[in-house]
Amino acid sequence: MPLSINSERLWDRHMALATIGATDKGGVNRPALSDLDGAARRQLATWAREAGLDLQTDAIGNLFMIFPGTEPNLAPVLTGSHADSQPTGGKFDGAYGVLAGLETLCAFRDAGIRTRRSVATVAWTNEEGSRFTPGLMGSGVYVGRLTIPEFEDHTDGKGVTVTTALVDFLATTPDIPEAPFPTPSHYIEAHIEQGPVLEAAGKTIGVVTAIQGARWFRVSLGGEEAHAGTTPRRNRRDPMVSASRILARLLAEADDGEADITRFTVGQIEAFPGSPNTVPGRVVFTIDLRHPEVAALDRYEARIRAAAAELAVPCDVEVSQVFDAPPTRFEPELVDRIRDTVGTLGYSHMDLPSGALHDAANMAKICPSAMIFIPCEKGISHNEAEAATPADVAAGTHVLANALLDLAEPV
Ligand code: HGY
Ligand code: MN
Ligand code: MN
Repeated sequence: MPLSINSERLWDRHMALATIGATDKGGVNRPALSDLDGAARRQLATWAREAGLDLQTDAIGNLFMIFPGTEPNLAPVLTGSHADSQPTGGKFDGAYGVLAGLETLCAFRDAGIRTRRSVATVAWTNEEGSRFTPGLMGSGVYVGRLTIPEFEDHTDGKGVTVTTALVDFLATTPDIPEAPFPTPSHYIEAHIEQGPVLEAAGKTIGVVTAIQGARWFRVSLGGEEAHAGTTPRRNRRDPMVSASRILARLLAEADDGEADITRFTVGQIEAFPGSPNTVPGRVVFTIDLRHPEVAALDRYEARIRAAAAELAVPCDVEVSQVFDAPPTRFEPELVDRIRDTVGTLGYSHMDLPSGALHDAANMAKICPSAMIFIPCEKGISHNEAEAATPADVAAGTHVLANALLDLAEPV
């Protein structure tokens, strides 16, 4: 008999968590390591304690909510996602995976389940990377792809360092012990698709087979401040002119026509000193480049560097790569087990790759990992209008709970 979940409790918790950092347009703005992220952490810890779960954290603030198994020496099964959001984020990106995992453990408790392996739900620190780079920070440290000294001095837009924000964040739950969490036997992450495929196909569950690769760059162009009214064009070293030439070339080169596979995004551009009547002395912009194939990522990276070198003149230019997540294929055997679970439970489903990044991309480096998607309305995400239905939220959690129970070896 498949394990059932409490879909009311699950939905109520989504709505409750969404009040933390709620925006006027119905979304959430819960920056990583902020007071709001800390409030979400406290709320998750409270719900976990109410369910009798164990809690632990680590040096980068990942929060582990643990359902102990009968054989604690066995590698645990892990699920989870993230509680931080984009500045104009939605109620479900990240929160869904954490709350679906928490609901799974509560459902185990309610049903008096016992399992050989412990099962834990993690809230990874700073998945989004929008306040502090790099993204996938907490899971990156956990799998050894990142070390804290590499980024501890990175600052947010107000000059606050990761170190300062992390100390304050950890202080929000001083009673949660810090201990290394063991390498899991398996990792499954539930997430909204953040794209239009499932909804268009009329499918309830996405069985995720892979995640495309992503590289982030910071392009800094140095020129010379000058008076906007008196300085003739020929005397200027205007980095905004260079930036516009570089971006015009790169945006044209990233347009792969009908194929529409390449993703090229300039999400931040800043002019310094930022005065309307001073020719900027510096312009800095970001590039988020995505593609399923490494060869294509390499090709576009070479084009970024070539365009910068050729078109920056008379300014100087520095192109630095600030993030690199290679394309990830999930463990076929685990993907098959998830697809079988979906079939047993009778939900419509399809295989699909993920266009969005997830902590599962890091976890796949250390253990068999996979993901379960549910649709989101019109595929909208990283937008306050992001929406999912109670039925789909429950269906994905139902699949996750039964897949995790199977992996944890019930006794
Ligand atoms: O950027 C991403 O793909 C993820 O949603 N943070
Ligand atoms: Mn996410
Ligand atoms: Mn996101």
